[in-house]
Amino acid sequence: MTDIADRTTILARTAQHVRTLLGADTSGHDWWHIERVRSVALAIARREGADLFVVELAAILHDVADWKFHAGDGTLGQRAAAEWLVRQSVEPATVEHVGEIIGHMSFKGAGVATPMRTLEGQIVQDADRLDALGAIGIARAFAYGGHAGQALYDPDIEPRAHASFADYKSNRGTTINHFYEKLLLLKDRMNTRTGSSMADARHAFLEQFLARFYDECAGRS
Ligand code: ADP
Ligand code: NI
Repeated sequence: MTDIADRTTILARTAQHVRTLLGADTSGHDWWHIERVRSVALAIARREGADLFVVELAAILHDVADWKFHAGDGTLGQRAAAEWLVRQSVEPATVEHVGEIIGHMSFKGAGVATPMRTLEGQIVQDADRLDALGAIGIARAFAYGGHAGQALYDPDIEPRAHASFADYKSNRGTTINHFYEKLLLLKDRMNTRTGSSMADARHAFLEQFLARFYDECAGRS
């Protein structure tokens, strides 16, 4: 069992390491996304009675695999995170647990289940998904859309319910369609009661935004 002073040092060093790795990312995986996921995950973890060290480490590291994904192999990031933790003398069970969590975080399409085995993983996944909802989620979606070079909105392109991860990944849709293809589906996929009740208000805000968006498109307001 790592003692508390060690844990504080490990968390601080890991945060610094990830901050350097993510640098000036503009695809929605910047440091402040990690910071929000960390604080929301910890708030949920305190209410749900989870292991705070595992939750905080996994929240800090959760997008490292995703970030690597852009450069090639997704499992590379996961392995690099595990190696980092081993170098910090984190106990093997925790290294394995954190690795499992970050390997199972991502949303993979409307028709693809993304089960998370442990409470700690469920909490970090909820916190990550909450950051894709509400005002922040809207800002991130349009930032990502610009980064990926996709249109804001095209009434001639219908949203799709992706049946596989490959299908979801290769999608070339619009950012408004992303609301139907992912964001509006998240509320019913939250794992914890705390996460689920936080998702309700953020989901309602997405709906308000869309209603207003269509009103403005039609010149109604
Ligand atoms: P996560 O942090 O959950 O792993 P992703 O890597 O899927 O999120 O995406 C990062 C952010 O970009 C999220 O807010 C997500 O909703 C948004 N995003 C992902 N794919 C698209 C897309 N095709 N269009 C618009 N936004 C997207
Ligand atoms: Ni994330």
